[in-house]
Amino acid sequence: MAALSRLAMTVERAIANGMAEATKGEYRTGHDPRTLRDALGCFATGVTVVTCLNDKGDPAGLTVNSFTSVSLDPPLLLVCLHKKAASAGALVAASHFAVNVLQTGQQPASIRFSTRDEDRFGTTPWECGEAGPPILRDSMGVFECERHAVHDGGDHHILIGKVVKASFDAGLDPLLFFRGSYRRLHFD
Ligand SMILES: Cc1cc2nc3c(=O)[nH]c(=O)nc-3n(C[C@H](O)[C@H](O)[C@H](O)COP(=O)(O)O)c2cc1C
Repeated sequence: MAALSRLAMTVERAIANGMAEATKGEYRTGHDPRTLRDALGCFATGVTVVTCLNDKGDPAGLTVNSFTSVSLDPPLLLVCLHKKAASAGALVAASHFAVNVLQTGQQPASIRFSTRDEDRFGTTPWECGEAGPPILRDSMGVFECERHAVHDGGDHHILIGKVVKASFDAGLDPLLFFRGSYRRLHFD
């Protein structure tokens, strides 16, 4: 009987140790850029592709997860664009832009729109929306915007848009981004 209870205690301890090991996180602090990036990566986001037509009428766009709703009345949203991004100039100059919210099947588009030297619009089905900017086919949601304001945000432009049309497909699942990797929703 004593041997049995000793065995039970050993098993219990092993399970507790295993659980502690599995949940043991890495808690870091620091003032360095790597720690800042990794800490920011703890904030799970959706993934969007922000698009416009440039001054020649050609489509331009890039993958963006710095998308945030700002105001309902008036309807405002924002995206942050790295000042060195090749598409940033076209986007801050355009009268209209679109935020395409991606669904799980659009991970290839997200990769394409965040990779240099890709024929982004040649290999992604799109058409112009009512307000003019390119809409990626099969997006989960689309916000067509007119430029409302551009603010300085350090090494990024903060582009604020006034939504002129919003549409979405409630039957699709969002593409997510967390800790530097693409993710999907899962419910246990
Ligand atoms: C998931 C994800 C999110 C991104 N979010 C942003 C963002 O919010 N702002 C930004 O300027 N770049 C962001 N990027 C990086 C740009 O998509 C990437 O640098 C792209 O190549 C820029 O294209 P361009 O230089 O042709 O404009 C993100 C990339 C990925 C993969």
